[in-house]
Amino acid sequence: MIEVEGLTKRFGATTAVDDVSFRVEDGEVLALVGTSGCGKSTTLRMLNRLIDPTEGTVRIDGRDIMQVPLEELRLGIGYVIQGVGLFPHWTVARNIATVPRLMRWDRARIDARVRELLELFQLDPAEFGDKYPAQLSGGQQQRVGVARAMAAEPSVLLMDEPFGALDPVTRAHLQDEFEAIQRRLGTTVILVTHDMDEAFKLADRIAVMDTGRILQIGRSELLLREPQEGFVRQFVGLDDRALRILSLHGVAEIATPHKVEGWEVLDGAVVDQASGRRILPLAPSDTLREAASRIIWEGADSLPLVEAGMLVGAVRAEDVWRVGRRA
Ligand SMILES: Nc1ncnc2c1ncn2[C@@H]1O[C@H](COP(=O)(O)OP(=O)(O)OP(=O)(O)O)[C@@H](O)[C@H]1O
Ligand SMILES: [Mg+2]
Repeated sequence: MIEVEGLTKRFGATTAVDDVSFRVEDGEVLALVGTSGCGKSTTLRMLNRLIDPTEGTVRIDGRDIMQVPLEELRLGIGYVIQGVGLFPHWTVARNIATVPRLMRWDRARIDARVRELLELFQLDPAEFGDKYPAQLSGGQQQRVGVARAMAAEPSVLLMDEPFGALDPVTRAHLQDEFEAIQRRLGTTVILVTHDMDEAFKLADRIAVMDTGRILQIGRSELLLREPQEGFVRQFVGLDDRALRILSLHGVAEIATPHKVEGWEVLDGAVVDQASGRRILPLAPSDTLREAASRIIWEGADSLPLVEAGMLVGAVRAEDVWRVGRRA
């Protein structure tokens, strides 16, 4: 658990971080969002003591970080630096191996871990392992930066705009990979992002910052349903909030499980027997936002939910609308 209390950082006359307090539970993902220059990176940098606070305290698992030996603190915290920050004179493999080497893992274990991470982040180990950062595209460098931070499976991960330089397809893939690893390992994460969709997709809670302060912090759905007047409301956006609320829910939550008459599974698609039309079914991993889009597209009252080739239920339009509706 990370406990931050009254954290403040002044650079001369500038107060970059102003009396910030929050808590991140074990295994939780907190997103830190806000406009450029509001103090997000400075907050992260105080958590692993890249800079010292002017005031306030940070405790990780109950220990004041000022009392923890610096090396021990840093080895336990993965850090994805804004703008990548790879060591330029080290190969990709050596960059990823930074923390495992400091922890004196044996060679074979390090090699295996580097290969595993490169594959996970869609970089061919044979092609990329021996390259230098300057020989990589921005997005490839960014993936190496994330792999490096996760190499030794730290219990705390600080990520400063980790997926910013990626195209939407690669980004979505990496977000999914990241989410799966984070869940499996129960990593405690603070994620800085400019992308509200990314925040809603990955975070359990979101903190909105402005001019060094946290204006509102809470579960994603709360922020959408009850944003504070002013900056938060503007930042979170009201136009598509119903759709964003839907994106926080999975189809399994509202699927009616009973057998559905009139549909038949045929070659991976579902055929509506009355009209003879083929319908692309929903899968259990789909969100209600995806369901809403498909319901509109199909002009349907409900869509079939198919799991492992079996028709397991229906998702009804009226139930989708109810979840996205104001209270
Ligand atoms: N080392 C420093 N010396 C002086 N001022 C600094 C220093 N680091 C940050 N600042 C100032 O502190 C404020 C907060 O900066 P910070 O980097 O935390 O913002 P940010 O929220 O991460 O912004 P961005 O989204 O652009 O990355 C800014 O006004 C910045 O100019
Ligand atoms: Mg920053």
